[in-house]
Amino acid sequence: MNKGFVLWFTGLPCSGKTTIAKKVKSILEEKGIDTELLDGDTIRDYIKNKDFSKEGRNKHLRYIAVMAKLLEKRGVGVLCSFVSPYRENRDFARSICENFIEVYVKASIEECMKRDVKGMYKLAKEGKIKNFTGIDDPYEEPLNPEIILETDEETVEESAEKVISKLKEIGFIEEGYSQEEEEEIKRRLRDLGYIE
Ligand SMILES: Nc1ncnc2c1ncn2[C@@H]1O[C@H](COP(=O)(O)OP(=O)(O)OP(=O)(O)O)[C@@H](O)[C@H]1O
Ligand SMILES: [Mg+2]
Repeated sequence: MNKGFVLWFTGLPCSGKTTIAKKVKSILEEKGIDTELLDGDTIRDYIKNKDFSKEGRNKHLRYIAVMAKLLEKRGVGVLCSFVSPYRENRDFARSICENFIEVYVKASIEECMKRDVKGMYKLAKEGKIKNFTGIDDPYEEPLNPEIILETDEETVEESAEKVISKLKEIGFIEEGYSQEEEEEIKRRLRDLGYIE
C-alpha cells in the first residue's frame, strides 16, 4: 500500500485550484499512485449544501477533512480543492490528517475577477449573491503553507510540477520508474529471454 497523503488546495475563487489539482492527479495516476479528488463544486452538488455562511463553510469543510483523513489512512493520495477561506478550517484538517500538505493557490483578486470562469464575481459585484470570498467575504491567507503556487505568473504545468517536486522531496513519490515503465522494462527483458 502507498503512503497516503492529503494535498489541500486553498485560494480565491478562480485562482486555479481545480485546474491544478486535476493536472496533479493525472500525473500521480501515471505514476501508479491511487488518488481521489474531492472538489468544492462536485461535493456540493452531491450533498446540496448551499450554505456559504461562516458556520456553513465550517461544517462543510469538517466533513471534507474527515473524508480526506479516512481515505489517506487507506493509502490514497487525496486532493482537496476548496476555497477554504478560514484558517481554522484548514488547521482543523491539518490536525486530523497525518500527512497534510497545504497548497496555497495564489492569484491576485484582479486576475481572478478577469478569469471569472463561472460568472460568479460579476454576480457578487452586482450584489446578486452574498458571502462571496474576495468580494464580501474574507480570505485568510495561509501563514505557513508547504507550497505556494503563483498562478498569475506560472503555467498550470509549472504549478503542477512544483507540487510533484514537493511530493518527491518529502518522500511520497519514489524517484525512479513508474509502474507502467517498470512493466515495459520487464516486458522487453522477457522478450530478450533475460527473465522468465
Ligand atoms: N497558472 C494557472 N493555474 C491555474 N489556472 C489557470 C492558470 N492560468 C490560467 N488559469 C485558468 O484559470 C481558471 C481557474 O479556474 P478553476 O476552476 O481551476 O479555479 P478554482 O480555484 O477551482 O475556482 P473555484 O473556487 O471557483 O472552484 C481556469 O480557466 C484556468 O484555465
Ligand atoms: Mg474549483
